[in-house]
Formats: sequence, C-alpha cells, structure tokens
Amino acid sequence: MAEAEPVMVPIQDELDIVRARQEGRQLAKDAGFGPVDLARVATAISELARNIYNYARPGTIELKKIQRGSRRGIQVVAQDHGPGIDNVEEAMRDGYTTSGGLGAGLPGTRRLVDEFEIVSRRNEGTTVTVRKWLR
Ligand SMILES: Nc1ncnc2c1ncn2[C@@H]1O[C@H](COP(=O)(O)OP(=O)(O)O)[C@@H](O)[C@H]1O
Ligand SMILES: [Mg+2]
Repeated sequence: MAEAEPVMVPIQDELDIVRARQEGRQLAKDAGFGPVDLARVATAISELARNIYNYARPGTIELKKIQRGSRRGIQVVAQDHGPGIDNVEEAMRDGYTTSGGLGAGLPGTRRLVDEFEIVSRRNEGTTVTVRKWLR
C-alpha cells in the first residue's frame, strides 16, 4: 500500500470532533470522493471521534490517502489508550450502549465504510481502522 503523509488530529475537547470531521472531509474531497461518500466519511469520523471523546479521551484521529494496486481511497485510524471495550462483539451490535446513547456509532460506521477493523484491550485502549475506496 502506498504511503502518504498522514494528518493527525488530537481528540481532547468536543471541538476537536468537528476539526477531525472537517479535516477528513477535506482530505476525502482532495482524494476525489463525491458528495454522498464525503458525507459517509465525515459521519464515520464524527462517530469514532465522539467515542474517543465520550469514553477514552484523549486520543487521536489519523487521516490519510491510501493506494492499493490501482485503487485509491482514504484511511481513518481512531486510537486511544482508554479503558478498552470488554466485549467488542457486543459493542458492534445495533443499539448496544453503556452511556444511554443510541448505540449506533460503531455498527453504523461499519456500514458506511468498505473496511472496518477494531482492536480493543481492557485498560490498554482501542484502535479502530476504517477504509473507504473510490469507486
Ligand atoms: N473508544 C472507546 N473506548 C471505550 N469504549 C468504547 C469506545 N468506543 C465505543 N465504546 C463502547 O462501545 C459502546 C457502543 O459504541 P457506539 O456504537 O458508538 O454507541 P454509543 O456511543 O451511542 O453508546 C459504547 O457505549 C461504549 O461502551
Ligand atoms: Mg458512539
């Protein structure tokens, strides 16, 4: 996979969620995504950044353009060193929430992107990597 300079957005304050979404939207626009996919990417970034803010701050959102063979796209890595998620399978289920939220953030994000990976360890933190490819 070809490497590009990543953009790192620290997630500490609530406004950082907005910054991450804007940076990601700009990068995806530069990469050539159309309005519908731009909205998907922006929503995915918002959800991942909000989860860091709500459950595990501080953390980071890393954004970069990617290339694999002839395919181009964008990768978002949401990383924190928070409490981790005890049961990832459960957390990926629609409606599962520990905060009285909608419980749609993680499963919704998975549906918005082409590739979704989550690694979480108790007391070590959580890393969610998503990729969206240009079509
Ligand atoms: N980065 C994270 N660190 C720790 N727990 C998390 C993190 N992201 C999500 N979770 C857990 O997974 C649950 C489901 O997340 P999500 O699908 O976004 O729904 P919601 O945020 O509405 O609860 C959260 O309620 C929380 O318990
Ligand atoms: Mg959420």
